[in-house]
Amino acid sequence: MSGRVVAQEQPKSFAFTPENLKKAKAIIAKYPKGREQSAMLPLLDLAQRQNDNWVSIAAMNTIADLINVPYIRVYEVATFYTMFNLAPVGKYLVQVCRTTPCWLRGSDKITKTCKKKLGIEMNETTADGKFTLVEVECMGACVNAPMVQINDDYYEDLDEKNMETLLSQLAAGKKVTVGSQIGRQTSAPEGYKGKGATPAKTSAKSSFDASSKDATKKVKVGMTPPRNEVTQPTSKTKGSTKSSPKGKK
Ligand code: FES
Repeated sequence: MSGRVVAQEQPKSFAFTPENLKKAKAIIAKYPKGREQSAMLPLLDLAQRQNDNWVSIAAMNTIADLINVPYIRVYEVATFYTMFNLAPVGKYLVQVCRTTPCWLRGSDKITKTCKKKLGIEMNETTADGKFTLVEVECMGACVNAPMVQINDDYYEDLDEKNMETLLSQLAAGKKVTVGSQIGRQTSAPEGYKGKGATPAKTSAKSSFDASSKDATKKVKVGMTPPRNEVTQPTSKTKGSTKSSPKGKK
């Protein structure tokens, strides 16, 4: 079980490994004296990475002691951010974005595909401990919605088919393609192949509006229009005396 529920079974203690303790001290040293609590987020991240991708209460207490704040300060931060798991999770933590842009682009279908393929509901882990499924709010990749985050990587431009393939490949330990699953270059229009090139194809789904002649006349994809092409006054306005300074023609 994951989600925002704190694990019932908690380890009694937590200690950073010598290597991570060194890293923790280096992180704390980045902040001015008296402001050590600013290191809380990176320290929680460090603890989570050391602890199989979840943060125990003992780990939170250790961090609180290191930065000299009351324990509650670390609990309230760790329980607020979904990036911190409060209970053990599977090897692959599948976080499905369900906020409006992803929802409009089909996150319901992605959720359904994940549940069916993995045989689990939200906030559950597969029996083999490989996958945990959770839903999260916008992860800032709306431009290539719908998307999921799995561990540290984003997978975008998803549909039922490529989501299922992705899960099968992960389950089989195969190498997977990170990012767009349709070969999109960053957040460029579908089919865009490089600077100065025009999209190979456009569709109603594409954010590139090829129907506007004015939009394509002077501005190539990937370029900002030269200033003089946008703001040059017409001959009519040039000759206008109404707005010209006195004496100027
Ligand atoms: S709504 Fe899904 S990444 Fe923004």
